[in-house]
Amino acid sequence: MAQNREKFSSFGALMAMAGSAVGLGNMWRFPYLVGERGGAAFILLYLVCMLLLALPIFLSESLLGRRAGSNCFGVFKNLPGGGKRWKWFGLLAVVTSMVIFSYYCVIGGWSVQYLLKALGFGFSKAASQAEIGEMFSSMAGGVWAPLIGFALFFISTAAIVQSGVKKGIERFGKVVMPALFFIVIGIAVYVCTLPGSLDGLRYLFIPDFSKITAATFADAMGQSFFSLSLGCGCIMPYSSYMNRDDNILSHSVGTAGIDLLFALVAGCAIMPAVFAFGVNPGSGPSLVYETLPFIFSRMPGGGFIAILFFVALLVAALTSSVSMMEVVVAFFIEEARLSRGKAVAVILVICCVIGTLCTLSFGPLSDVKIFSYTIFEACDKLTSNILMTAGALATVIFAGWILPKADFMDELTSSGKYSSTATLCSIARFLIRYVAPVVILAIFVMGLIG
Ligand code: PHE
Repeated sequence: MAQNREKFSSFGALMAMAGSAVGLGNMWRFPYLVGERGGAAFILLYLVCMLLLALPIFLSESLLGRRAGSNCFGVFKNLPGGGKRWKWFGLLAVVTSMVIFSYYCVIGGWSVQYLLKALGFGFSKAASQAEIGEMFSSMAGGVWAPLIGFALFFISTAAIVQSGVKKGIERFGKVVMPALFFIVIGIAVYVCTLPGSLDGLRYLFIPDFSKITAATFADAMGQSFFSLSLGCGCIMPYSSYMNRDDNILSHSVGTAGIDLLFALVAGCAIMPAVFAFGVNPGSGPSLVYETLPFIFSRMPGGGFIAILFFVALLVAALTSSVSMMEVVVAFFIEEARLSRGKAVAVILVICCVIGTLCTLSFGPLSDVKIFSYTIFEACDKLTSNILMTAGALATVIFAGWILPKADFMDELTSSGKYSSTATLCSIARFLIRYVAPVVILAIFVMGLIG
């Protein structure tokens, strides 16, 4: 096990992990899913999925990463029980992260463009809702604007990762995560003072159980996975940079708690505004890029709120993309013995190709189809419905059934330092061994069919 790697401080580890978890999933995907899938009923299901499924998987990734003290390929190759066959799952996680990173940078690039728009002339009061919506499709469907956004986002991520584990990733997380929290809380408080906003809060917090269906359940599970960055090895390198004295259980619960809090606060920043301006809450993925700019254009002080919102969206996306890139960088550094700089350069080349194709699949390449999906959609479906689920399944089976129980408990209790948590660790092990694999397999099959 590698001894001389850079290590996070305890707070730095928590902020880095929370940074990976909090991202577009919280500020873009969660609010529109809540809008589409029935408000509070969806939130309730999401809570159950977080607790019984996502948190145990997160714990598995974290304990495996720190036990092995290496990137995700090293986890499956070097830990007791791993080796020849298992290491391919590690490689799968690296590939998954690389693909997600490539298309995540496309959406991150849109946030760059929208921040520039908000900083420039804001969103014109004269424009109708349809015209503001049109602004999005012509931006995303163009060539240069989305490519420039993509490149700026991509290069910013690379610059942080290139600066190293402590000076880059930890420092960035420690500064921006608390700032992000205050920005999003500030927007939520302001929006809740607008007349008519109470209906939005009601929609968020009073459940209507008739809205709960199998599809809602699958969406809630998928969202809990995506939001905690599971199934693509992101948590493993970060945990390998944790000190042995840090408590994995409390860091995992802390990360999941922060992630949930952010999703709820983002919901409170968006839904009340949607209701206050009488627009449709169920507008789907276009909620943040089409509906919100329209609302900002009408809201008192909306120009300033728009800037704050898109800064928050961008920063949240950056801390997540950093964690995806680090999966691949750690792999190249540890397995191919490249320097950090060279590893970053290799990824820049590979992801530039995939990302450019994804960007252009909204415009000039929109007719190129893979099994009836555009290139962007194909990358999204391939990763979220197949690769991430397969990665999560491999992780829980490895942590629950292959890694010896003694190693599992020793790592989770930091060699007995936190022996008072032994009962909780045993409950977690039960969920990891019996509940998680069955539920993940069910999502996997649903994903393949659907
Ligand atoms: N958790 C991130 C978000 O909520 C997305 C992500 C997925 C990050 C997979 C890393 C890996 O936006």
